Amino acid sequence: MANNRLIKIFDTTLRDGEQSPGGSMNHQEKMEIAQALVELGVDVIEAGFPIASPDDFEAVREIATNFRGPEICGLARCSNIDIDRAWEALKHSSSPRIHVFLATSAIHREFKLKMTPDEIVARAVEGVKRAASYCDSIEFSPEDAARTELDFLCRVVEAVIDAGANTINIPDTVGYATPAHMGNVIKTLMNRVPNIDRAIISVHCHNDLGLAVANSLAAVENGAGQIECTINGIGERAGNCSLEEVVMAMRTRTDFYHCDTKIQTTRLVPTSRLVSSITGLQVQRNKAIVGRNAFAHEAGIHQDGMLKERTTYEIMRPEDVGLTKTDLVLGKHSGRAALGDRTKQLGYSLSGEQLQVVFEQFKDLADRKKEIFDGDIAALVENVLHGTTENEWSLDTFRCELQYQNKPKISLTLSHGDNKETVEICDGDGPVDAAFIAIGQITGIHLLCKEFQLRSTSLGHDAPADVTLEAEFEGQTFRGRGVSMDCVEASIMAILNAVNRVVAASRVKQTASH
Ligand code: KIV
Ligand code: ZN
Repeated sequence: MANNRLIKIFDTTLRDGEQSPGGSMNHQEKMEIAQALVELGVDVIEAGFPIASPDDFEAVREIATNFRGPEICGLARCSNIDIDRAWEALKHSSSPRIHVFLATSAIHREFKLKMTPDEIVARAVEGVKRAASYCDSIEFSPEDAARTELDFLCRVVEAVIDAGANTINIPDTVGYATPAHMGNVIKTLMNRVPNIDRAIISVHCHNDLGLAVANSLAAVENGAGQIECTINGIGERAGNCSLEEVVMAMRTRTDFYHCDTKIQTTRLVPTSRLVSSITGLQVQRNKAIVGRNAFAHEAGIHQDGMLKERTTYEIMRPEDVGLTKTDLVLGKHSGRAALGDRTKQLGYSLSGEQLQVVFEQFKDLADRKKEIFDGDIAALVENVLHGTTENEWSLDTFRCELQYQNKPKISLTLSHGDNKETVEICDGDGPVDAAFIAIGQITGIHLLCKEFQLRSTSLGHDAPADVTLEAEFEGQTFRGRGVSMDCVEASIMAILNAVNRVVAASRVKQTASH
């Protein structure tokens, strides 16, 4: 690392990432992700947008109060109430950062803000000064910078640095830039803004054209010192620059970029799994670095080459990104210690109590399935960690009758505290539809299913079923997950998981309104 320039990694999974359609997280989940980001070694965690909602405010406040290591950042529009609210959430952090943004492109000035260029400069300066009266680390983003006239961009940047901004973030808000374009924007700022040496230039690229990583790297080549990115590249629309890809590009090609980061790359795969399991946003199989196929060699010629010399077809070692050597099989004679070991290698850190719950489910599974693979263990662990919220409603028992070309019949009993309630449904277009109807009748929570996926957790037709779903209730989207040897039971558990999230969310709303 000796002569390499250190690039700061600014993670915005909890802010821009959370804006992914269907990617929202509850408070506890945000804390888990913040902890994982600390362990990953990011330089800055953008914890949220405090003015946006009481939930966002609380998340930023708690992360700022309890997490040490990275700078903790809160987003604010360029207005006093936003900036004051951001500071209110951040003030207990030992290293707070306020991130102020204001759009600068002609399209945004004219149609969204209805402000003249002079008014934009004045408002930006005023906002940065107010933020700088609270703390030292101030980031300013000229929103839609990639489509802003370069002369005007230089003028705004110079003015906000004079006002106290020490990080200037250049967003490609709509994912419009190409690498040469982005490189030129950064180069122009480096060459033309007289006080640019008093700030770090950052880059924030969206992925609408699939170029977010390439654009971020082009910015680095031209002098940017910070990259804003998210785990698995989640974010608005097509997402943001993917943290794992941009980090591994610089690590693998230090010969070219002469740059590196402080990221503990062996935490990449576990962090990716965590974010995917919490948000329900699955990682595509062929995604670079963290996809299931990223290190799988299928072609005979490749396998032969790999056996002779790994580097013939592999530019990174799977273990360097936290991928453990594949599929050591466990079975019914494996003990708690072996399971504990395996979960650690897979990147999970479980409390003794959590391990005990996973172990009991593992034993259950081992009675029914001879060989237990990593995928089975990961599903059990994730289900224990994130599949079970406060269990307002739980499954007591069910019976399901299916007959070719007949409506299914389902009889379902749910527990609610000390009470049990049963319904029988002789309708529905299949067992899942019938389960939705039955659960709706008992709980009074009628979900509208928007997405339903059933996968096996590993190899073999005896593998457990892993159901993830997305459902709407009163205009809000909720996720659910269930894992079981029986695919109807897994579906029922996933529906109940979503119902329990609805109940938890309405409880949070009630507390906030009191
Ligand atoms: O994409 C964008 O412009 C943003 C800013 C708030 C930095 O997310
Ligand atoms: Zn963004």
